[in-house]
Amino acid sequence: MTEPPFDRWLEDLERRHLAELSFAQVRKGLQAVSSLYVERRGRIGSGAVFEGEGKRAAFALFYGPLHHLVVERIVASVGAAEPPLSRVLDLGCGTGAAGAAWALAAGAEVFGVERSGWAASEARRTYAALSLRGRATAGDLLRERLPGRGAAILLGWVVNELGDPSRGTLLPRLLEAARRGARVLVVEPIAARQVPWWGEWEQAFAADGGRGDLWRFSAPLPPLVARLDRAAGLDHRVLTARSLYLPGHQD
Ligand SMILES: C[S@@+](CC[C@H](N)C(=O)[O-])C[C@H]1O[C@@H](n2cnc3c(N)ncnc32)[C@H](O)[C@@H]1O
Repeated sequence: MTEPPFDRWLEDLERRHLAELSFAQVRKGLQAVSSLYVERRGRIGSGAVFEGEGKRAAFALFYGPLHHLVVERIVASVGAAEPPLSRVLDLGCGTGAAGAAWALAAGAEVFGVERSGWAASEARRTYAALSLRGRATAGDLLRERLPGRGAAILLGWVVNELGDPSRGTLLPRLLEAARRGARVLVVEPIAARQVPWWGEWEQAFAADGGRGDLWRFSAPLPPLVARLDRAAGLDHRVLTARSLYLPGHQD
């Protein structure tokens, strides 16, 4: 019997990341990553999240599966996998988890672009473990050519890492890609203070026929994710996110 791809991916993650590190080291890494996201956001732009084995393992083992589950649910809820897509472009793909969820649902290839070379190589492993076709490359998402019809563009938990000028140039480019037929999904944390630019983006998406949503999902967490969650003093029994979605202009 073949295992579901999600379980196979989690097994691969655990085998690799827990080969060198103990559970306690990953838990410590998770607490450091979580503190960067919540209290020390200023250091994120310098790539501090991926400095050190513990933080890398925590991101891959904990945030990757959580982002995968959240994007899977959002894509299903807004109907973003129908009709099927030829490719998903995952901008700031991290370890590839979020774009992989959309690509699996839509029967698409996945292309990740990621500033961190370590995360891009981890994304390649994610795609392989999930039997997805595609590739992940190290680069700046702002330099990427954006596709149109038949493709999707995902920005998962990354727009808030960009500076105001970069966000300002990215927004019209995303709207223009949607006018050429691309489906565009932006996902961010629910905490409003982390996304002061949200109102402006939401208005722009709505003006072009898009939607903005706040999500609360209760999803059973994979066992290791649930253990790390408890051990690090976090609480992700209910998954939350906010999203903006443009379905792509249809002629
Ligand atoms: C919070 S992580 C989210 C990763 C992934 N999207 C996910 O959902 O798991 C944000 C990622 O965006 C990447 N990133 C930030 N600015 C970027 C840029 N200008 N170009 C490419 N990647 C970028 C960071 O290196 C990091 O991996």
